[in-house]
Formats: sequence, structure tokens, C-alpha cells
Amino acid sequence: MSLERLDKIISNTNGFSRSQLKKLAAHGRVMLNGEVIKDLSVKADGDADEIAVDGVKLNTQKFVYIMQNKPKGVVSASEGRGDTSVIDILPPSLKRSGLFPAGRLDKDTTGFVLITDDGDFAHRILSPKKHIPKTYIVTVDTPVNDEAVNTLEKGIELHDGTSYKPSVIKPLDDSRTKLEVIIFEGKYHEIKRMFKAVGSSVTELQRIKMGALMLDSQLKEGQSRLITADELKLIENKPE
Ligand code: URA
Repeated sequence: MSLERLDKIISNTNGFSRSQLKKLAAHGRVMLNGEVIKDLSVKADGDADEIAVDGVKLNTQKFVYIMQNKPKGVVSASEGRGDTSVIDILPPSLKRSGLFPAGRLDKDTTGFVLITDDGDFAHRILSPKKHIPKTYIVTVDTPVNDEAVNTLEKGIELHDGTSYKPSVIKPLDDSRTKLEVIIFEGKYHEIKRMFKAVGSSVTELQRIKMGALMLDSQLKEGQSRLITADELKLIENKPE
């Protein structure tokens, strides 16, 4: 148990400044164990006490891991710089300082984005040496024949010298314009550029899985939720 000033605990967790918190507290919007607190210099235990701002309970876990179903038009970055970012659309209950997306999806790609404040974990899962599989549903404008599937599955080198490692490709319908694709690295525009190289343009791209963890089908586009400890192990393919 370690006691700290209430304003310090809250601002370390969700990034509110001390002056913002002072105003919120003056309006009776900060609670400690169910009681309205106006003087934020009181001491509390971030691990044991229940702290709430505007009725939203503070999550004081050391690190958090969030699954988001990213909609189109939202950028995978900590700051949108004119665009809306994946952090901007988190609900207040999940917001805290230091969050960033572990890996990037293009602005027009939808699906599973992992958001965390754990730099070591992000570094591990993004390391090219780890070969963590990422699974996508890809829609293209031109059918992908067996020859193109074989070419992409073997790995491909583009004219500019960029090379993509072997992938796993499964056509999902008779038109061969919808495919499940598993890649083991995460280069810039990787899937779009792979398919372009075999004559098909990607029209829709959705990430559905990281490692062995599926995107929760209950999460609507734009929604986010915490990842459980057991689910987290699935990302690194370390189920018990
Ligand atoms: N490959 C792409 O081309 N775009 C993404 O967003 C992800 C993988």
C-alpha cells in the first residue's frame, strides 16, 4: 500500500492536469470510495481505493492493454494532428496518459488495433524477429488466381527492392476477390503493395486477429475494451 495525493494519482492515470482536476473537484465531480472530495491534497491508495471522476472509475493497473475495432477514417497514432486518432475515440473509462497503438493500420483499414502504455510489450510484439502472425480479411477489385496466391505465399520482391516474407492466403469465395491473409511482418502498406504486385487493388482491408487473439465480434466499429490477462498471452501465442 502506498499513499499519494489524490490529484497525483488521477493525473498520472488519465492525464488530467492538476488545474483541470481542481475545477472538477470544485464542482463535486471527483469521488473517493463513494464520497465527493473537494480537496485533492488528501492521500489515497491507488491500488486499493475506488477513485472516480464524473462517475467513471479510475483504472490504476500498472499497464493496460486495449482491443479497439478501428473504424475507417481514424489514424493509428497517439495524436491525430488534424485527424481523429485511435486514442481520441477511447471511452473516458479507458483513457489514461501514455497510451499508444502498438503497430499501425492505414487510415482506411478497419479492425483490431491494440492500444497500450506498456512499451516493452509493444516492442516485443512488433519485433520482426517474433514473427507474430496478423490475420486480415482482404477484398480486391480483380480475382486472385492460384498462380498469384502461390507467388504471394512464397514471398515477393517488388521492383523497388522491397521484399515481403512468405504469407498464408486462403480465398474465401468463388469470385476470388475476398481472401484471408496472414502476414508475419508489418511493413508499410504491406498487404496493399503485395496484391498490387500481382495485379489486384485492395478495396477493403480489415484486421481480424493478432497472434491467436481474435477481434471480439461483439465490438462494433469504434468500440474498445480491455484485453484480459489470458487473452494477452494469446497475442504472443503463449496460451497456458
Ligand atoms: N497492410 C496494409 O497495406 N495496410 C494495413 O493497414 C495493414 C497491412
